[in-house]
Amino acid sequence: MLSAYPDLDAANLPAHVAIIMDGNGRWAKKRLLNRIKGHEQGTEAVRGIVRTCRELSISILTLYAFSTENWQRPKTEVAALMNLLKRFLESELEEMMNKDIRLNAIGEIERLPEDVRQMLQKTMKSTENNNSMLLNLALSYGGRAEIVRMVREISKKAKNGEIDPDSITSSIVSDHLYTRGMQDPDLLIRTSGEIRISNFLLWQVAYSEIFVTDTLWPDFGKDEFVRILKGYQQRERRFGKVEA
Ligand code: FPP
Repeated sequence: MLSAYPDLDAANLPAHVAIIMDGNGRWAKKRLLNRIKGHEQGTEAVRGIVRTCRELSISILTLYAFSTENWQRPKTEVAALMNLLKRFLESELEEMMNKDIRLNAIGEIERLPEDVRQMLQKTMKSTENNNSMLLNLALSYGGRAEIVRMVREISKKAKNGEIDPDSITSSIVSDHLYTRGMQDPDLLIRTSGEIRISNFLLWQVAYSEIFVTDTLWPDFGKDEFVRILKGYQQRERRFGKVEA
């Protein structure tokens, strides 16, 4: 079935891949370029990985595109990232429609500039009936903020008598996160060598297989992704249990 990827076992691919795309700034610095050039090249890497995931029939791809902490970067960098995001949504709509990809955003979308928010909403609406893959962009996203929001929502329901505190389960918690209805990431990749979670999907990565590569995000391509998938297929996932 995966004739283009003879090394991979089609029956054992991750359903949900999450990526911490790091190293755009370092990529630019190494070339004596402005950091924004790094983000531009990073956007090309995003295009590539979306295509590869779709080819492999991976159901969900979640990309950490902008964290709550990223608001503290210089105004010009934040504006450039917002602009890149808007241009990405504009330029990719046709391909998302042709390839049956649904776009979704997770995070504090209300904090995004009005024009970006409108473009996001338009893209989510246009792609809402696409079913072959879900492209989840984490935007103004922070894992702790997501957990705080979930606690507030569940507490309100408990206060109103809609939920009995003693019957709160993991699945009720999951249902109050931005990722409600999605299975947790099977595979988490981080580029550019740092071995940290950086406030990404704190609840959801409980049992994800983690791969860290030294490659800077703009240089991350298909060959390396396939190598990581091969590595993933060699890992034994036990979810805290003993070998069967
Ligand atoms: C980390 O590199 C990357 C980001 C903060 C943003 C990621 C954004 C993109 C890849 C481009 C836009 C996204 C989409 C979805 C179109 P860094 O700047 O922290 O790198 P450094 O650690 O080397 O400085």
